[in-house]
Amino acid sequence: MRQAGRYMPEYRKLREKYSLLELCKTPELALKVTLQPMQLGVDAAILFADILLPLEPMGAPFEFAKGEGPVVHLPIATRMQIDRLRIIDPEESLGYVLEAIRLLKRELEVPLIGFAGAPFTLASYLVEGGKSTNFAKTKKLLFGSPEDFRVLLAKLAEVIRAYLLAQVAAGADAVQLFDSWVGELSPRDYVEHVQPHVRRILKDVEATGVPVIHFGVGTSALLEAMRDAGGTVLGVDYATPLDLARTRVGADRAVQGNMDPCALLATREVAIAHSQRVLDAAGSAPGHVFNLGHGILPETPVDHVKAVVDHVHSASAR
Ligand code: CP3
Repeated sequence: MRQAGRYMPEYRKLREKYSLLELCKTPELALKVTLQPMQLGVDAAILFADILLPLEPMGAPFEFAKGEGPVVHLPIATRMQIDRLRIIDPEESLGYVLEAIRLLKRELEVPLIGFAGAPFTLASYLVEGGKSTNFAKTKKLLFGSPEDFRVLLAKLAEVIRAYLLAQVAAGADAVQLFDSWVGELSPRDYVEHVQPHVRRILKDVEATGVPVIHFGVGTSALLEAMRDAGGTVLGVDYATPLDLARTRVGADRAVQGNMDPCALLATREVAIAHSQRVLDAAGSAPGHVFNLGHGILPETPVDHVKAVVDHVHSASAR
């Protein structure tokens, strides 16, 4: 999940001078922000970037509007707009991300995790024009014009596949595919309309030999279908019981998660107790990556995060 970000005073300070997109597009700054959370003692670094970055070179510019989150200037509503989206070459269009990875590999003492958004989640931003509560426009396209939806997801999948492969080639030690909003779909609709696209991405990226983490939120009903789409590690959201998830996913896959990010907000003691709950639910079998069950919130006290990292290290030392 997010490591860097607004909960860190060093990050907020940089954001007074630079926009989020400026931070992402300047490799030296992306490097700096990626390194900021290393003071917490985490076991891996997450590249500082955003899942939406490929949309601009594909032909759908956006901005991060204050208080609103991402805003896509011209949301996708017609087949003509879908046909006009460009299949980009990541080296050419997202070279700044790959350059940040190369710089980071020289500095980091821990593995680097790259990432991208999954086709459904990126399509939802393109079609809704920003964040959504019910994903009505996206699902209207899926149900009403399944062939247009298929073309849109296939285009996104092709871009994401090439982008993740380029991140691995640049030095990423693992990659995560964020299908943050796919939990909006029923298993049947997921299998029919989303899984084939995700499978294509995961198959090729896994073939490089790096671990691939596949994550979504609200995906309790989708765990088996997401596992079947591929990936070395299944990311489990904070509301899904982790012990059940391990049984459902099977012993041949690892799981990642799933502390509720809000449990970091109360007291240090509450935060530590919740991290222990996660360790207890994960059990002692190998194949669990401790993590939050979704992104960290801006109001999170940094010392609570540090206390959890320390606790997990001491409680899970083998
Ligand atoms: O931890 C890290 O340093 C990695 C950086 C990272 C960002 N976005 C930077 C960012 C990662 C891994 C992401 C992924 C991302 N971005 C996802 C998938 C993960 C998830 O949370 O489900 C999604 C859906 C997005 C899209 C996105 N980016 C949204 C919805 C927002 C607005 C959030 C808000 O509360 O306003 C962003 C902005 C964003 N991306 C921030 C950061 C640190 C915070 C905004 C800021 O600095 O102004």
